[in-house]
Amino acid sequence: MILLDGKKLSGEIRDELKIKVDLLKAAGSKVPHLAAVLVGENPASKAYVGNKIRFCEEVGYKSTLISASTDITQTELLDIIIQLNEDEDIDGYIVQLPLPKHIDEATINLAIDHRKDVDGFHPMNFGRMAEGMTSYLPATPAGIMEILSRYNIDTDGKHCVVVGRSNIVGTPMSILLSRKGNPGNCTVTLTHSRTKDIKAELLRADIVIAAIGIPEFIKGDMIKEGAVVIDVGINRVEDSSRKSGYKLVGDVAFDEVSPKASAITPVPGGVGPMTVTALMLNTFKAATKEIY
Ligand code: GUN
Repeated sequence: MILLDGKKLSGEIRDELKIKVDLLKAAGSKVPHLAAVLVGENPASKAYVGNKIRFCEEVGYKSTLISASTDITQTELLDIIIQLNEDEDIDGYIVQLPLPKHIDEATINLAIDHRKDVDGFHPMNFGRMAEGMTSYLPATPAGIMEILSRYNIDTDGKHCVVVGRSNIVGTPMSILLSRKGNPGNCTVTLTHSRTKDIKAELLRADIVIAAIGIPEFIKGDMIKEGAVVIDVGINRVEDSSRKSGYKLVGDVAFDEVSPKASAITPVPGGVGPMTVTALMLNTFKAATKEIY
């Protein structure tokens, strides 16, 4: 069994990016500049945004954090978006989700200039992705594609079962893996909460993408011998033996599934670090105008 080590890969890509940033500096060009908008006090969102800002510092990008109180109005948030769209120094930015209930995420997403949408959530980028055109890919799917590519996982003609149909992970993953390309060329089954028999679908899978957000949902008896298993879940479950009071587990029961898998991502240290890394790769593309 091969452990698909996202933490190690992320370190390698970080080193590659550092070299590229140094080359930009040496050429007298400006360094990539990422901004992040954080609304409210959600601890997970704060941690994710903190990781993104830290990664920027590590590779030599400029970063700007805009923190807003949870009672910011939608109009005030749209004003921030307009400023970020107009700010010529900022190459790309993200608005961390989820947003408070009184703000419509779709309206905010549409207001983001698609040329600065390094999250790849804007319909222009989503549509271009679906058409097989160059675009900013959403970070988690892009991170998974990078893992499959750098570990030389053969996807051609394989049957891939995606569990979960979110706009951020499941749906784009199903599009990317069915596209003509490498990684790609899979026959994809997209399963979700209304799928009649997920276990039967999973048992036919050469590649499993688990993105449902239910701790250890996929058990050992739901996986075919030799399958490649990509676990997107990051779930906090109670663990009184730890100082924090919780531990992180994926959507896959790792101890049961890993002996049957030919390759598997751990949690933590698998897809998670690659998500931040993919955002950094997108930001570099934004700064060097590779897409638009
Ligand atoms: N919330 C959970 N994942 C993400 C992400 O990739 N980007 C943003 N902006 N918010 C998120």
